[in-house]
Amino acid sequence: MGRALKLGLHDARASAADREWLTNVYPFYLHDLSEFDEHYYRLNDRGLWEPDHLASWLQDDTDHPLIIRQSETRVGFALVNQAPSADVMPGFRFRLAEFFILNRYRRTGIGLRAAQALFDRFRGRWQLSVLPRNAPAIAFWRRVLGDRASLRQEFGPRGEIVYAFDTDRGKADESSRSLA
Ligand SMILES: CC(C)(COP(=O)(O)OP(=O)(O)OC[C@H]1O[C@@H](n2cnc3c(N)ncnc32)[C@H](O)[C@@H]1OP(=O)(O)O)[C@@H](O)C(=O)NCCC(=O)NCCS
Repeated sequence: MGRALKLGLHDARASAADREWLTNVYPFYLHDLSEFDEHYYRLNDRGLWEPDHLASWLQDDTDHPLIIRQSETRVGFALVNQAPSADVMPGFRFRLAEFFILNRYRRTGIGLRAAQALFDRFRGRWQLSVLPRNAPAIAFWRRVLGDRASLRQEFGPRGEIVYAFDTDRGKADESSRSLA
């Protein structure tokens, strides 16, 4: 997969086809995450994941549901909450709620480039959390964020690892320590 191929972030609400694609692909992401967490998302008797946040991603003005495209091909998605969303912690501007690259496009550098495009587009203080058993994602975010994120262990219901960083300053965000 050539790195020269153009990568883009497109609001999924802009077209019915993108909304449908996101709606259909979102469960694959939850299935991937279910390997690392058995507490939050649950597959119900109808084979649907609960809770289902997708409807609010697509409706709420403070959310950005973004399709990641390589040239014309949809290869993944990112879901960003923006303050004053209730999902963004006080003192932060953005939260990366979900980030997913389709299996067949992984380990080609697309995730890295998409994350960089995301942080270039949305400037300010970010938070993102990773399930503590999601070793591939931890390796990925360490690589993407390098030394500009401060790493913290939260004691929420899922014991998430929380990264906090500022894409305006491009360096570790010391004030994130007040999250404790
Ligand atoms: C995590 C994820 C987004 C990575 O996307 P990707 O496009 O494969 O990542 P990249 O190819 O850009 O990887 C960049 C670097 O991150 C690291 N990395 C990525 N995936 C890794 C893995 N499975 N194991 C170890 N390191 C990994 C490597 O350093 C990699 O560089 P390299 O391939 O030259 O060694 C993708 O695996 C995914 O969608 N996983 C399922 C959903 C998920 O867990 N999302 C994150 C929620 S916080």
